Amino acid sequence: MIRILTGDRQAFVLDTEGTTYAFRVMPTGQLEHLYYGAKVELTDAAAIDALIEKRAFEPGNVIRYHDKSDTVVLEDTCLEVSAPGHGDLREPTVELVHADGGRTSDFLFKSAEITCDYKPSDELPNSYREDGKFEHLRVVLEDKSYGDALTLDYCVYPECDVITRKVTVTAGEGKVEVERLMSGTLDLPVSGWSVTSFHGAWAREMERSTITLKAGKFVIETRAGCSSNRANPFFMVHEPSATETHGAVYGFNLVYSGSHYAAVEVNAYGKTRIVNGINPAGFRYLLEPGQTLESPETVMTFSGGGFRRQSLNMQRFVREHIVRGEWKRKPRPVLLNSWEAFYFKISERSLVSLAKAGRSVGVELFVVDDGWFGERNDDAHSLGDWDANPKKLPGGLARLAKKITALGMKFGVWVEPEMVNVESRLYKEHPEWSVEIPGKPHSEGRNQRILDLADPAVQDYIIEKMSEVFSTEGLSYVKWDMNRVFSDVYSQYLPPEKQGEAGHRYILGLYRVMRTLTERFPHILFEGCASGGNRFDLGILSFFPQIWGSDNTDAGSRARIQEGYSFGYPLSCVGAHVSSSPNHQTMRDTPLDTRFNVAAFGLLGYEYDLRDLNSEKKKKLTDQIDTYKKWRDVLQTGDFYRVEEGNIHEWLCVSPDRSRAVGLLMQEQVIPNTQYHCFRAAGLDPEKTYNFTNIPRSVNVKRFGSLVNTIAPIHVKQDSLIHSIIDKIVKMPGEKEDVTAPGSVIMTAGIKLKQAFSGTGYNEEVRFFADFFSRLYFIEEVKNGRPEE
Ligand code: DGJ
Repeated sequence: MIRILTGDRQAFVLDTEGTTYAFRVMPTGQLEHLYYGAKVELTDAAAIDALIEKRAFEPGNVIRYHDKSDTVVLEDTCLEVSAPGHGDLREPTVELVHADGGRTSDFLFKSAEITCDYKPSDELPNSYREDGKFEHLRVVLEDKSYGDALTLDYCVYPECDVITRKVTVTAGEGKVEVERLMSGTLDLPVSGWSVTSFHGAWAREMERSTITLKAGKFVIETRAGCSSNRANPFFMVHEPSATETHGAVYGFNLVYSGSHYAAVEVNAYGKTRIVNGINPAGFRYLLEPGQTLESPETVMTFSGGGFRRQSLNMQRFVREHIVRGEWKRKPRPVLLNSWEAFYFKISERSLVSLAKAGRSVGVELFVVDDGWFGERNDDAHSLGDWDANPKKLPGGLARLAKKITALGMKFGVWVEPEMVNVESRLYKEHPEWSVEIPGKPHSEGRNQRILDLADPAVQDYIIEKMSEVFSTEGLSYVKWDMNRVFSDVYSQYLPPEKQGEAGHRYILGLYRVMRTLTERFPHILFEGCASGGNRFDLGILSFFPQIWGSDNTDAGSRARIQEGYSFGYPLSCVGAHVSSSPNHQTMRDTPLDTRFNVAAFGLLGYEYDLRDLNSEKKKKLTDQIDTYKKWRDVLQTGDFYRVEEGNIHEWLCVSPDRSRAVGLLMQEQVIPNTQYHCFRAAGLDPEKTYNFTNIPRSVNVKRFGSLVNTIAPIHVKQDSLIHSIIDKIVKMPGEKEDVTAPGSVIMTAGIKLKQAFSGTGYNEEVRFFADFFSRLYFIEEVKNGRPEE
């Protein structure tokens, strides 16, 4: 709920179910930020007065706002908006260069209104409500000296404790150069808090790190041209003592896919400013009088209940108010992708045989990845030439699609529409479409260049060419890849004085292309990808409901990567695949169970040459996929809880009605003689009774190595023929968990699992739990003494 309180001055109160956000108009006209945190009752002017910072005299050596008042010191006031010039030396919201060369701006309150029929412009993606009824507050500020305006649009999402804001600048009487336009500016009257960010690299996305900031500034940014794996736009600011379940935590994200910037700055007076928005580095946007520039939307949440509540808020917000379209609530299919099975070496015959192997174990969607078009036998050729290679696919995509759909599977295809290889027909025909400085050497990434999506002709070309590909009969899934970051940023379409707009205009062009194609092909399930998670953000998720989380398919690495995503994104956004072992990115050997168990906590797929699997493994895969289908609704729509992280990963995903849940226990490295583990659930209904089970998995004799001799009547040489024969015939039984208990018990006391193997003996009462072993647990509400069917 949003309220405008009118007393001697106006104040604005934005309430969600669990939080309150408040600011007021200062007597001098600026907006003073008053409060953001756990819900409080702010219903009258007296309550607002209590939140106003009192000051009788200015501190020494500061700038006072104007001579008549020595109590307004912008450098030390919590503000909603800040601009350079009148004494606030902190990170500004907006930096404009006016026609006279001046850089001072002073945005003062002009008007405010609450609306419920807010219609944001569609240049940039925005959060949304399915019923179209926003709780929205618009505040307009004006700079009296230059006539420029700043419009602040706040939207409130009560049920997930999220507030969003975007800022639009309108040039007044003269031209302005916008050098910075932040979306968010939040001033908190605290210092010494911690910032948790998610930095990384290719195959190492979403590495969580925390820094405590007593003074100065911490910056989270990328200049990659895309939101990047170097620094995800999602971050948190929190009490240093915050834990998973305790403490104050603020979460921030940005609905944007380009270079972003966030800074957390502690000033000299114990206040913390948090800004986020488009990266100002290399950014310069020219506005003629009356023209506007809109910032991306910033997303904020507050949790008084630690990281968990923060994560649940963000996950719900993304599921409900970012992801849209036909696939928003549809079960996502189990897919098989050709990449790690074949890389570029594909043919119709091999693809169809792989698809058949997939179908036989229960895969629902077959995806042909890179290599199907032009002369694409390596990564140096043919990006841009989107016609099927006649040698690999003599009947084109159409015949392949027909063969796959005839198997009773859905068919999908990989594309990388934003890119071009110099070795391509497209580059020869249109060198001016490439992002590069004409006549100057260009640095490449993965042997490719970027098409200039700031140019409407390039946008139109991609829309039409992709429409041809996406019109292939039977096509129901597209993987949209993007495999390099920007360098030598330059749009050959824009004049020299507008080159500072190139990066942002690229993103606007990309959004136009994505919007047009997703509207034209509403039935297609789109999956974003950028060398894995190099563009995993809310902008992409506003068009594509899911993103390939990482090119790293190693389950051990994935557990950490997916845990990282879970702080800001729901499981239903993260593509996760089972691949062969040893893993192609890490060379680590991981049991098939663990590869599946971790991928199941994401959108399950396989990229694996299933044709090579023996019947035992095929049977295992069939069982896994069956299990996934039975629990898919929980895993794809449920709330995700991290119970333990580190060497042990303990996760839980609970259905929205809290009647079913799936748990994971994975161990990275064995610590000898640690047999005990208690599985503590979260998110269940304490009043309900649940049955807690697992699916016992037998263990191959060979896994015990030479220990076989402790029970074998004859000596068995390790890895000998006889060892292999025994391994085929004898299976060691796996432990069975089967406990019925109230939700309150499973959550607070936990379920004491059967002991882990600890070097002293093994039977079916023991959990065989070597390095990177794992278990899934299934929790179902018991009604009338039986789990629900
Ligand atoms: C990078 C992607 O992340 C991979 O999954 C694969 O599609 C390759 N590109 C293909 O070139």
